[in-house]
Amino acid sequence: MYREATNNEIKKLEEIKGKCLSCQKCPLGKTRTNIVFSGGIPNHKLMLIGEAPGYYEDQKGEPFVGKAGQLLDKIFASVGLSRQKDVYICNTLKCRPPDNRDPLPEEKEACREYLDAQIEILQPRIILLCGRVAVNSLLNTTQGITKLRGRWFEGPYMSKMMPIFHPSYLLRNDSREKGSPKWLMWQDIQEIKRVYSQMD
Ligand code: URA
Repeated sequence: MYREATNNEIKKLEEIKGKCLSCQKCPLGKTRTNIVFSGGIPNHKLMLIGEAPGYYEDQKGEPFVGKAGQLLDKIFASVGLSRQKDVYICNTLKCRPPDNRDPLPEEKEACREYLDAQIEILQPRIILLCGRVAVNSLLNTTQGITKLRGRWFEGPYMSKMMPIFHPSYLLRNDSREKGSPKWLMWQDIQEIKRVYSQMD
């Protein structure tokens, strides 16, 4: 039931990626090196939505390949998940904002149709909203992530969405003490794995 994407779905994703490759809907089209459309494996079970490409992602055309990405891989690995076989990864923006500044409202709006198409094609059962920008876009709220993380919300196509801390935030907060961001992330990834496993 929660199989990998079909050839037809992969073809549809490729078509959307093709549109992104020539997209000039916002000024980031002029400054990007590469679009960063997705990473991991297209599947119907688990999607992670991050913020926007950073320097290394822009260079490589792949999401979460810098330090934050390495930590993200470790977090998934701690519960036996990996981007090679379990997770489809994308961002709210497909192009890098200069100097890694926050995405502007008009950039998010211009790019939204591509993210919506990715969600519509895959209709994943679980969507992880990684960091403030993804949370604010998908939950349409300005509430802080500290209040929202670790809770399940109803998402599109009957999915369950959970806000989680962004790995860059965890890199800036090194403590593992009870109640620290890293400790909370550990609680969240275990809850995610619990629900993920029930879906088999
Ligand atoms: N941070 C994100 O939110 N996305 C990436 O792809 C890389 C860093």
